[in-house]
Amino acid sequence: MNRNHWIEDIPVIMISTDNSDDNVSRAYSLGVSDYISSPFDAKVVYNRVFNIIKLYSKQRRLVQLVTEQIYEKEKDNQMMIGILSHIVEFRNGESGSHVLHINKITGMLLERLIQKTDKYDISWHDRYLITTASALHDIGKIGVDEKILNKPGRLTADEFEIMKMHTMIGASMLHSLTMYQDEELVRVATEICRWHHERYDGRGYPDGLKGDEIPISAQVVSVADVYDALASERVYKKAFPHEKAIEMIMNGECGTFNPLLLECLNDIQGRIKDEMDAEKA
Ligand SMILES: [Fe+2]
Ligand SMILES: [Fe+2]
Repeated sequence: MNRNHWIEDIPVIMISTDNSDDNVSRAYSLGVSDYISSPFDAKVVYNRVFNIIKLYSKQRRLVQLVTEQIYEKEKDNQMMIGILSHIVEFRNGESGSHVLHINKITGMLLERLIQKTDKYDISWHDRYLITTASALHDIGKIGVDEKILNKPGRLTADEFEIMKMHTMIGASMLHSLTMYQDEELVRVATEICRWHHERYDGRGYPDGLKGDEIPISAQVVSVADVYDALASERVYKKAFPHEKAIEMIMNGECGTFNPLLLECLNDIQGRIKDEMDAEKA
């Protein structure tokens, strides 16, 4: 029972004729809830069993209550972030599911990356922070002119320069939340906002960071972002089929990415396709 951790959930009462100190303390150290020496009084045994069962069920109810509360709080957090990003998308003329996709793909990429390497030292908590913060990657677009955001054709060079500013605007919006500066979520979201358009070879924007100068959070979100931008319809383009989108990313048609992340993308592409197909169905 100890080996399988059953003793943590199932109370054990030991009844024995051996009342030596050694035996009793061994039983307790193995995790029994109570020790009754034989000969015993049936009524006493009944009461002790009854009490222990009552205690355990009370404890179980408490655990359930706490779990439900955490779940509710977590659900509200996710919902607030969802609403916030939906507002941005609504204005951007992006499909309402862009943030959902980024969230899912970022989670899958991180999961695969953690399986593959411990190079980036990504904890469970980091994974949660990065996937949650990924929803905020384009909040800076709120500060970009709607005519540019929703322009059906190609952007002129000047318009593109303005469009690029959404990275800095997003980062500075988060930076001005002085009371949340020590929050990890805000720190990660700021990284993602500012650097999700950087490229591994240094040819991205706004800072031209190279390789792992780009925080891994932003690197992962940029792969997810590029995939979903290709695979979804936008005002300026039709949706590419899944295979074509993957091929374009692998060929470097959307810039250079961390080779490790491309491997991860390749490993999980079947799962991504399944998710996208399931949604269309
Ligand atoms: Fe962006
Ligand atoms: Fe995006």
